[in-house]
Amino acid sequence: MKDGTGKTALITGATSGIGYELARVFAQEGFDLVLVARSEEDLERCAREFRDEGARVSTLPVNLSIADAAEEIYAWTLSENVRVDILVNNAGQGEFSAFLDTDLGRHLEIIQVNLVSLTALSHLFGREMVARGDGRILQLASVVSKMPSPLLAVYGATKAYVHSLSHALANEWKGTGVTVTALLPGATDTGFFGNAGDAHWEEHRDGLADPAQVARDGYEALMAGKTSVVSGLANKARDALTHALPDDTLAEMMRKQNAPRVS
Ligand SMILES: NC(=O)c1ccc[n+]([C@@H]2O[C@H](COP(=O)([O-])OP(=O)(O)OC[C@H]3O[C@@H](n4cnc5c(N)ncnc54)[C@H](OP(=O)(O)O)[C@@H]3O)[C@@H](O)[C@H]2O)c1
Repeated sequence: MKDGTGKTALITGATSGIGYELARVFAQEGFDLVLVARSEEDLERCAREFRDEGARVSTLPVNLSIADAAEEIYAWTLSENVRVDILVNNAGQGEFSAFLDTDLGRHLEIIQVNLVSLTALSHLFGREMVARGDGRILQLASVVSKMPSPLLAVYGATKAYVHSLSHALANEWKGTGVTVTALLPGATDTGFFGNAGDAHWEEHRDGLADPAQVARDGYEALMAGKTSVVSGLANKARDALTHALPDDTLAEMMRKQNAPRVS
């Protein structure tokens, strides 16, 4: 029997990049899927694809930058009688620019998607999972979770929050049957850089990780009940540096890395 037989995974940001590859892994492993993203067209395209692989798929077009988006998703699962066994908080956005060169509204939009909606979904579904003594949550953090990230400052700060929250919940829920796993990818070949305003992303595409491999690493860590996983050997080495170097030095390194991405 497959891991997912009779179980449902709800994945935010499931139409592109890492979220799409995660949805594919869950479909292959026999899970029913609830796919969340903004574009109805993309959701339907992905649903058709995963249905062809034998998965039962529902789609929910929801904008996670809007207040109450998480409540809307939760209410839908109640009205449709869908029990969410796995929650994947994957949707995320960033913006390459100096902090003051980006509108406050855009910063707040990023915070709402990466942090507020993620927290609300973890609370709503986490409460249900703990009550029934069973469930898993996968949170998309990043290698930048542990490094201040000048010129991508708000994004980096949201990922630090996701990493901290995930470890804290994993600890609070020890022994309840519910696990929380933070996935820390490095730079990965997805739409993220283009969407985040990096006009030159195609020039450094060669060094980017394969989103399918990142998704597989996340899935395996989640199913093993690990608290966190850094995807990829080079990223693991880089992660070790974050324990050895002062934050000011890490911030300087990240500034040099992000500067060419700011047009
Ligand atoms: N790519 C990287 O280098 C990298 C590295 C570390 C961590 N991560 C994290 O991995 C996660 C996935 O990133 P990715 O690189 O796969 O990004 P991506 O290719 O840009 O995909 C983002 C997904 O999220 C959805 N989404 C974006 N804004 C949304 C909103 N407001 N409401 C609902 N859905 C929304 C998008 O669909 P719609 O546009 O239709 O809404 C899409 O399905 C993010 O949390 C990101 O921070 C990425």
